[in-house]
Amino acid sequence: MYVCPICKKRLKKLDNVWHCQNGHSFDIARKGYVNLLTTAGRNPKNAGDNKEMVKARTDFLDKGYYLPLAGKTGEIISELLTSCKDPHIIDSGCGEGFYTVNYAKALPDAQFFGIDISKNAVAHCMTRVHTANVTNCSFAVASSFELPFMDGFADLIVCTFAPVSNDEYARTLKSGGKLVVVSPSPRHLFELKALLYEKPYENKPNVYGLNKFTEDREIIFEYPITIESREDILNLYSMTPYCYKTSAEAAKRLESIDRLELTCGFSIRIFTKKRGF
Ligand SMILES: C[S@@+](CC[C@H](N)C(=O)[O-])C[C@H]1O[C@@H](n2cnc3c(N)ncnc32)[C@H](O)[C@@H]1O
Ligand SMILES: [Zn+2]
Repeated sequence: MYVCPICKKRLKKLDNVWHCQNGHSFDIARKGYVNLLTTAGRNPKNAGDNKEMVKARTDFLDKGYYLPLAGKTGEIISELLTSCKDPHIIDSGCGEGFYTVNYAKALPDAQFFGIDISKNAVAHCMTRVHTANVTNCSFAVASSFELPFMDGFADLIVCTFAPVSNDEYARTLKSGGKLVVVSPSPRHLFELKALLYEKPYENKPNVYGLNKFTEDREIIFEYPITIESREDILNLYSMTPYCYKTSAEAAKRLESIDRLELTCGFSIRIFTKKRGF
């Protein structure tokens, strides 16, 4: 399943170490994940989410606000794989494993492989695995732009709010493999933006440049939530890109709010790998 990030040969597991035939080896961390980032990928400027970001997201997700999305995407993945025996699924940019572990619980016959460039996030994935007691999930620190998997390894790749790689997804998917990309819908968290900005705009659809794929369909999945805790509101805010773009004055307004009715809106786009790639 994994390939050596240095020489791209298959890795084999022996005790607590993944080895390739060229003598490169990668220890399995005490928590159970492996770090397969290349030296270039270890660039601290590109280290993914830090400890504080991971904690804010974990605390927010643990409250269940996005559980309906995990359920909906899990159903879609399950439908896409109905004719597939023992499927392999990569969760690319899996964060701290909230979605991966939920999918793994819903699809016990599938094997899930989460990767994320943030070591802090991947370490938390293992905590989730142990708490949920799932055995069909593995996690590695790696980049979506250098996936540590053999060519044609996966039946499906899911990517939720994380960077998308046309080339690597096409390489690691089997012929006819499926790609599910989840991103914010136009109305996602609009009410939060209305609090922060004078002229809030709807989100524009993401352009991914996925020319090795054909787009089959898009599902817009929306539901209302009410947040009645200041801590949850601030955790959600720190998960959003607005956190970096908002004036201190507007951000201060948020600190005095302890109830917020919000639209959660997601675009779930389904792609198929084109023939010949
Ligand atoms: C907004 S978070 C989403 C995490 C998770 N999918 C979720 O929805 O909870 C984006 C994630 O992408 C990761 N990331 C950023 N650049 C990456 C890359 N090049 N390869 C893999 N993961 C990356 C970050 O570390 C972070 O965990
Ligand atoms: Zn090697």
